[in-house]
Amino acid sequence: MTPGRLITLEGGEGSGKSTQASRLVDDLRSQGIEAVLTREPGGVPLAEQIRDLILNTRPAASTAEFLLFAAARAEHIAELIKPVIELGQWVVCDRYIDSTRVYQGELSSIPAELISAVETHTVAPYFPDLTLMLDLNPAIGRERALMRGDTNRYDQAEAQVHETIRQGFLDIAAREPDRCVVIDASESEADIAGQISRVVARRFGLSG
Ligand SMILES: Nc1ncnc2c1ncn2[C@@H]1O[C@H](COP(=O)(O)OP(=O)(O)OP(=O)(O)O)[C@@H](O)[C@H]1O
Ligand SMILES: [Mg+2]
Repeated sequence: MTPGRLITLEGGEGSGKSTQASRLVDDLRSQGIEAVLTREPGGVPLAEQIRDLILNTRPAASTAEFLLFAAARAEHIAELIKPVIELGQWVVCDRYIDSTRVYQGELSSIPAELISAVETHTVAPYFPDLTLMLDLNPAIGRERALMRGDTNRYDQAEAQVHETIRQGFLDIAAREPDRCVVIDASESEADIAGQISRVVARRFGLSG
């Protein structure tokens, strides 16, 4: 049995996280690896309810928003990530800790030490084995998201905010090169899936 793994996909809006997370799960399954696709916030019923709460009624207090995300993550880990990994299966998660660091940390000014303390107490030891940072010019991401016909509150933010988000993910990748790999998300879906497949094969010693 291969050890269970946690792979996360991060990046700005419309960078292709959901598209590639789903393709990666198919790719892993085609190699005989049992893989579960999930997302944050959400993934399990209570966390999905918290997701709806946050997206439909934006908390006025950024600390409240941060703690709701943290509660959703704690539940997601306890009810899905931990048990799946303990079964030796792989988890592919669409957004995870780095989205919190960037959106709540950099954009909403939640102190880094609070984020770090909550990571220590709710995430550890379920830090990602690999994080794929989908890097895309925000203008292209926005175009893709609008074409999809979907807007949420982040999509309406200013260009500068999107640039901060992009840079925030790149900074994390630069600080944690053992965990993170930056993927050029401006290519076609199939090309990006190919890049990701090669990165995953190399990282985990799969024959591909
Ligand atoms: N490489 C690509 N080239 C062109 N269009 C793409 C590519 N990848 C995804 N798309 C399309 O762009 C839109 C956004 O992709 P997707 O939903 O996967 O992004 P996302 O990062 O999950 O966005 P969000 O942050 O809003 O959840 C979708 O309509 C998708 O079909
Ligand atoms: Mg998505």
